[in-house]
Amino acid sequence: MNILILENKPDSEQDRVLRQKAKAIKDINSEIRQLALAMVDTMHRDRGVGLAGPQVGQLKRIFVTHAEGDESRVFINPSIIWTSQNEINYEEGCLSLPGLWADIKRPESIKIQAWNEKGRAFTLEASGILARVIQHEYDHLEGILFIDRVNEVKREKLLVKLEKRAARPEKRKKAADFGMGAG
Ligand code: NI
Repeated sequence: MNILILENKPDSEQDRVLRQKAKAIKDINSEIRQLALAMVDTMHRDRGVGLAGPQVGQLKRIFVTHAEGDESRVFINPSIIWTSQNEINYEEGCLSLPGLWADIKRPESIKIQAWNEKGRAFTLEASGILARVIQHEYDHLEGILFIDRVNEVKREKLLVKLEKRAARPEKRKKAADFGMGAG
């Protein structure tokens, strides 16, 4: 699967998809199961720790995660039902914003309710990296990117960096090779 990369242009079709709110999945059928598996493969291929539907051009409420020390997980129609008051800073990257990194403040722990690819409902309490990845991926379903969560000055700097990278596609390819992992 192809991962959409933000172009930051007003007429960009991929920007429109990345910026749109994803729609609920009505039926967890074989098509959705295949989508979930393909997303897990793509996340692993690009060494990401998470990937959301809109990033692969699917405006559906689905994301997958594979945080360090954890297994692959599929979240369909998720709701974050609790967040801790305690917030922490953590550096985030995103497969749709290659080469960009920024410290983002978010709740340290969360509780999420969702369905897996087999149509089974589950509730998960997460903290640390997994909680971080889940919140980042959940944002994608709302059309929110991590650069929206930094101040304007920082965001401008990041977008300039993104444009420079876009002008040098050979660098762009290498951008997926980060150690910490992006979503
Ligand atoms: Ni992302």
